[in-house]
Amino acid sequence: MAVGLNRMRVGIGSSTAVGLRALARLPHGTRLIRFMARHPLIERSLRGLLCVYQPFPDIETATKYIRRFIPAGHEHSDVVSQLKQFADVTRESDYPVLFYLCGYASGLSTVFDLGGGIGNLFYPYDRELRLPATLRWMVHDLPDKEEIVLQFAKSRNEHRVGFSRRMEDASGVDLFIVSGALHYFEDELAVILGRLAELPRLAVVNRTPFSRAEPIVTTQVGDGYVHACKLHSLAGTIAGMEAIGYRLIAKWPVHERASRVPLRPDLNDTYWGLFFVLDADRRPKDASQ
Ligand SMILES: C[S@@+](CC[C@H](N)C(=O)[O-])C[C@H]1O[C@@H](n2cnc3c(N)ncnc32)[C@H](O)[C@@H]1O
Repeated sequence: MAVGLNRMRVGIGSSTAVGLRALARLPHGTRLIRFMARHPLIERSLRGLLCVYQPFPDIETATKYIRRFIPAGHEHSDVVSQLKQFADVTRESDYPVLFYLCGYASGLSTVFDLGGGIGNLFYPYDRELRLPATLRWMVHDLPDKEEIVLQFAKSRNEHRVGFSRRMEDASGVDLFIVSGALHYFEDELAVILGRLAELPRLAVVNRTPFSRAEPIVTTQVGDGYVHACKLHSLAGTIAGMEAIGYRLIAKWPVHERASRVPLRPDLNDTYWGLFFVLDADRRPKDASQ
């Protein structure tokens, strides 16, 4: 009974989201939605209708709420098998990273891949860049991925890929990469990196939805799973990284996907990629030579 009711509420949420997204595409649609959302009674009704498609104050609150309706998230078998397939393709949005990284590739010895899934990014990067034989590529992801990462690497006869349970392992790495995952973290990138004893030399963000203005917590709803995510401010992320000593080398739009928050179409944007290099004077002496 409760399952059927929850399914119905998600269905109503989906239809409401479709309606609001269509309205946002009309002339003045975005302004109309913002106008409606300023009236507390209408806003509350829209949130109720949107169910798992509504905005939330933070990722933890969102996750608690959405799990009542859709129990599965990142561990869903469809999500995992898609990541395995990605190991064999170089996606369009990987090319900017490959372009900016190729000059550094032969000198890489440690990589920290935050939200690295099953380690799938390593395989196309290695195919295109011929990464060093002594490289250590550490995938950091949710605990359920550890065995999958290791088994997958074994199936490819790949000894360079391992799993890290600790964010601290990112301290001082040559390359910190977060691709398609920064939005699953509450903290801004500069805050995450700022906690490390030593900053990574290169920091790359790819395939990430951002907000055009202030950050907003929303959801990504798939077939049988849902993730809470935070669209960080694009300008705020860049400013934060510059404040801790990084220089933005490149920024590229990723048109494979777009964020479409039904109640805040004014914040919607395409996905983005960013390539940062730590300024030489912020690097430890021996690494800056
Ligand atoms: C869309 S996949 C990205 C995989 C890969 N980086 C790529 O570009 O294809 C997002 C990954 O983020 C991971 N993730 C989500 N929340 C996380 C968290 N709190 N800590 C670590 N990993 C997380 C998920 O488990 C998932 O593997």
